[in-house]
Amino acid sequence: MQDNLTSQINIRRVEKSKIESLDFDNIQFGKIFTDHMLIMDYKDGEWGIPDIKPFEPLVMHPATSVLHYGQSIFEGLKAYKNDEGDVFVFRPEQNAKRLNVSAARMCMPSVPEDVFVDAIKQLVSIDSAWIPKKRGSSLYIRPLLFATDEYIGVKPSSTYRLMIFMAPVDKYYSGAVKVKIEEHFSRSVRGGTGFAKAAGNYAASLYPAKLAQEEGFDQLVWTDAIEHKYIEESGTMNIMFRSGNKIFSPKVSDSILSGITRDSILKLADKWGYEVEEKKIEVQEIVSHLENGTLDEVFGAGTAATIARIESIGYRGKIYKLQDVNDWEFSNRASDFLESLKRGEQEDSFGWVHKVL
Ligand code: COI
Repeated sequence: MQDNLTSQINIRRVEKSKIESLDFDNIQFGKIFTDHMLIMDYKDGEWGIPDIKPFEPLVMHPATSVLHYGQSIFEGLKAYKNDEGDVFVFRPEQNAKRLNVSAARMCMPSVPEDVFVDAIKQLVSIDSAWIPKKRGSSLYIRPLLFATDEYIGVKPSSTYRLMIFMAPVDKYYSGAVKVKIEEHFSRSVRGGTGFAKAAGNYAASLYPAKLAQEEGFDQLVWTDAIEHKYIEESGTMNIMFRSGNKIFSPKVSDSILSGITRDSILKLADKWGYEVEEKKIEVQEIVSHLENGTLDEVFGAGTAATIARIESIGYRGKIYKLQDVNDWEFSNRASDFLESLKRGEQEDSFGWVHKVL
């Protein structure tokens, strides 16, 4: 791998931007994409030079191995613009690290962290006009790594493509969410790929989530695949609970994604003097809290979802309602703080925010 790759990015700009197609007051999540994307190909054991080029569809050979055997991983992070027009990205080096953790599990080559971060910053600065300034809105950045061998035998591909493309976004969930504790289906198993941000994990979650949606829930809370006794994560997010001064979340394991928003919130809670616990959480512990009214807040944490308050939890046919989400002291404070921090409006004592422009 070339060490100086960060300084070499080929850039071909669009002749005419399509930004007039974006209505900044009415942005739907993940439906409109910016003018440019980045492609970097891997072959003969090394990465080529990244290309930033006009956003366009991919043409694929029918035997492209990702389509058959699912060697595909991705990341999600966001860029923000404040009222002064300054542009920031949040903890991109953590996405680079996690991409490589996923890559190792899926038999894929790692991407040099500096190349990844530099590529994101360049792409964001080229398409910075697309970043909404409105609080709560941002530019979602989707890095994607997939197998490109044109071969139908089952083996790790020898060629890969890294792509990065971006979408201006508003909230992922429009309000508080209703979840159901899942005790039959599993998202991931011990020794499986649950900790990797692998496309197949999301595919496996769709059918159980669809059944739950038909029952009126927004998302599932996954439990461990062996006994369905311990809480794992929720849909597209990690899950967190507050009872009094205690904030607790399932300890990450090989079946739980190590969320960057989760990590940021736990560090913030610790700094603010809460007692933070990462541990195995029994479903029964949560049910007892719900029965006794001792659960003050439940929320999901993820890049797309940010902090998503959970208003009710379904368990074995019963719906437990949480108290009014508007009064939640921790998640409301953390949401406001993180939003300001990501927009460069708070002192960044954690060193999480990278200024791009
Ligand atoms: C994210 O939070 O960035 C995710 O990847 C979740 C989802 C949109 C699939």
